[in-house]
Amino acid sequence: MHDQATVLRKMASRQNVKPAGLRIISVTSGKGGVGKTNFTVNLALSLVDFGYRVIILDGDLGLANIDIACGITPHFTLEHLLSGEKTIEEILITGPKGLGILPGGSGVQDLANIERANLENVIRNLGRLEGMADILMIDTGAGLGHTVMNFLKASDDVILLTTPEPTAVTDAYGILKALRSDDKEVLVNVVINRVHREADAKATFERLEKAVNKFLHGSVNLLGWVYEDPLVGKAIMNQEPLGVTYPDSSAYRCIQWIAGSVSGLYLQPPRKAGGIRGFLTRLLRPF
Ligand SMILES: Nc1ncnc2c1ncn2[C@@H]1O[C@H](COP(=O)(O)OP(=O)(O)O)[C@@H](O)[C@H]1O
Ligand SMILES: [Mg+2]
Repeated sequence: MHDQATVLRKMASRQNVKPAGLRIISVTSGKGGVGKTNFTVNLALSLVDFGYRVIILDGDLGLANIDIACGITPHFTLEHLLSGEKTIEEILITGPKGLGILPGGSGVQDLANIERANLENVIRNLGRLEGMADILMIDTGAGLGHTVMNFLKASDDVILLTTPEPTAVTDAYGILKALRSDDKEVLVNVVINRVHREADAKATFERLEKAVNKFLHGSVNLLGWVYEDPLVGKAIMNQEPLGVTYPDSSAYRCIQWIAGSVSGLYLQPPRKAGGIRGFLTRLLRPF
């Protein structure tokens, strides 16, 4: 296992993929149903409005539904790329405002456990994303699964979404604990979704922050919050993203505000081995 991973890692770093500025941002949550998919799509749309080229990898194994949120039917997924049947261009779909969508399907799990025979082809294909996008956002799905954790550790930045609900906050803490057990310095950016007022967001964040300070001896960053907004549900019902149908809604305006921080800060200094190559090298690292 270790030897295999070492060989794969060497292959990944040898490939001639130019170290570009592609930034890989994972959006995750401890608990399901907290609003990850809605947030990811609309954060991506806001970043598109700011002039970034954005591609979303729909990485939620159980409930892959970026495509549904955008009213699109994918024909092929990452699975077809890994099997060599399709190229990256053939599985990539264009969504609203030119947003790119890569349907993951069961290929997401396979990517994290990739076979040596497929690696070169996968690196070549995923490497072409460098020329197509500035930001790759991954909707990881919820929870502490092996694949999700590997994606989080391999990403440049992690955005952790929670609602003020105590169970969601407890599960968010679980993710922070697991991430920090591997990397003490990891900076996680928290978004509190479905708040009724600013004070709720701050109180929820403080609960999480206190636990992280006290038990993990670390810190977290409050990236922002999103208001509870009935237009979110309406947009989902209509299968048209909030940012397209209700750009003036309070929820979308919050997400635009967060997009400002994401683009302005770029969240963290870039890693030494950035882009897809760095991402795959870390994804293949034995943990
Ligand atoms: N800010 C919000 N205001 C109101 N409802 C929301 C908000 N964010 C998410 N929701 C609701 O939560 C449900 C789950 O959202 P979804 O994005 O599918 O979550 P996840 O991807 O985390 O499972 C959706 O039906 C949506 O209507
Ligand atoms: Mg989802």
